[in-house]
Amino acid sequence: METPTMKPDTVLILDYGSQYTHLITRRIRSLNVFSLVISGTSSLKSITSYNPRVVILSGGPHSVHARDAPSFPDGFIEWAESNGVPVLGICYGLQLIVQKLGGVVVEGESKEYGKMEIEVKGKSEIFGSESGGEKQMVWMSHGDEAVKLPEGFEIVAQSAQGAVAALENRKKKIYGLQYHPEVTHSPKGMETLRHFLFDVCGVSADWKMEDLMEEEIKVINQTVASDEHVICALSGGVDSTVAATLVHKAIGDRLHCVFVDNGLLRYKEQERVMDTFEKDLHLPVTCVDASERFLSELKGVVDPEAKRKIIGKEFINIFDQFAQELEKKHGKKPAFLVQGTLYPDVIESCPPPGTDRTHSHTIKSHHNVGGLPKDMKLKLIEPLKLLFKDEVRELGRILNVPVGFLKRHPFPGPGLAVRVLGDVTQGNALEVLRQVDEIFIQSIRDAGLYDTIWQAFAVFLPVRSVGVQGDKRTHSHVVALRAVTSQDGMTADWFNFEHKFLDDVSRKICNSVQGVNRVVLDITSKPPSTIEWE
Ligand code: XMP
Repeated sequence: METPTMKPDTVLILDYGSQYTHLITRRIRSLNVFSLVISGTSSLKSITSYNPRVVILSGGPHSVHARDAPSFPDGFIEWAESNGVPVLGICYGLQLIVQKLGGVVVEGESKEYGKMEIEVKGKSEIFGSESGGEKQMVWMSHGDEAVKLPEGFEIVAQSAQGAVAALENRKKKIYGLQYHPEVTHSPKGMETLRHFLFDVCGVSADWKMEDLMEEEIKVINQTVASDEHVICALSGGVDSTVAATLVHKAIGDRLHCVFVDNGLLRYKEQERVMDTFEKDLHLPVTCVDASERFLSELKGVVDPEAKRKIIGKEFINIFDQFAQELEKKHGKKPAFLVQGTLYPDVIESCPPPGTDRTHSHTIKSHHNVGGLPKDMKLKLIEPLKLLFKDEVRELGRILNVPVGFLKRHPFPGPGLAVRVLGDVTQGNALEVLRQVDEIFIQSIRDAGLYDTIWQAFAVFLPVRSVGVQGDKRTHSHVVALRAVTSQDGMTADWFNFEHKFLDDVSRKICNSVQGVNRVVLDITSKPPSTIEWE
């Protein structure tokens, strides 16, 4: 990741692979303090380039004794000390400090996993001088333990089993927590983090979304010369819309957006999103109706991978054509492309030892419809690349993107092509699916469940079964309904609707959508299923 613009009071997190690392970042940002994650094995030069106010060493699945156990670079502790930068090690981070500074870490006799009581000893900085003797529940997850502390360190909390739960060296400003203060199972954890950042380290809570927005606008204006043009493909989703709105605020109508109707959109989707783009956001958007092109290419195609490839290729062709038309019109090739890449897509993470993976940017590519042609030589503008999804929504609110739009469920790039199993052009599968989906989603809205559910949709199955409607036997299609709860779409649980809701929806669908005589409900979580069917 390239070095971002310097921010005052950045809390830098060195990642050693804990599943909670990103949670620490989010918790700190929720205190209005800017926080970033970089790999725990970054060079000293890279660490210091962020000019951090505080450095936190995350937890991780390794043992400090493992071959290739990841560690901070030589000279890091000396740099922190001489620059007055406090260091906090959490779990593995604590053990790393102990081991590296001359203490002893051994494999614990009784490993500590889960909830545990700790007792704060005497006076300490990290818990506040008044906390001596206090007991609190915390979330532990460690096998190794520190048995001898380096010189100048003091135990400031111990677990009920007698293990070191917290330590500090006030002179060197180095602190360690063996437990995870960032998880809700450590009820006083946030209080400790807040006290540490504000009272011990003197960090200011001055990071605001408005500042980030102004900063990004400045950067965009410095990057894009006053005669240059920028293009952006809008999907109708939150990320591309917020990214485009921000860039538009910076450079006005030198931004040119394109929205492609690929014939695989939901009921009235084109009208709905174009309405928001034009009336609410005043974005310059060209709507390209390419449904015939897409559908004729997809005719007879059943394999999901093949469908994705065709859609990706067609999309690139249209985008290329759009850029060429702009070049004709403005006498200049567009030089930049806006993308709504988010922070979780670019975060560096530390893979466990033995996996043969090196520290690298983890890019979620399997959900992208397809890359853009390299020979277009567009430089990227990714104004959301430091933000989490909920922060993008907050930025969207500041930019006056309608709240209803910001809360839309995610919709896959290949659209209904991944929700019609088999050939999407067979019969009127797409039309049937649009109607079923609309009834399902509207019923969810009417029941007040839309914001509780992470994603809901209908699926068209290419099978027919016998039914009885009126006095006639029918031989019609089956549709499936899917609704899930999730944090980020990586794992998901199926949503438990009430019997009456399901009964009403199924009745409504069969009574009003021609060609459907059976409605089934998907009751699988992810894993083992994906969310979409394909
Ligand atoms: P799966 O089906 O992989 O989906 O469990 C997780 C989330 O990603 C969305 N999804 C896609 N989004 N292009 C996209 O832009 C795609 O090809 C794609 N496939 C799945 C899916 O809707 C869910 O939100």
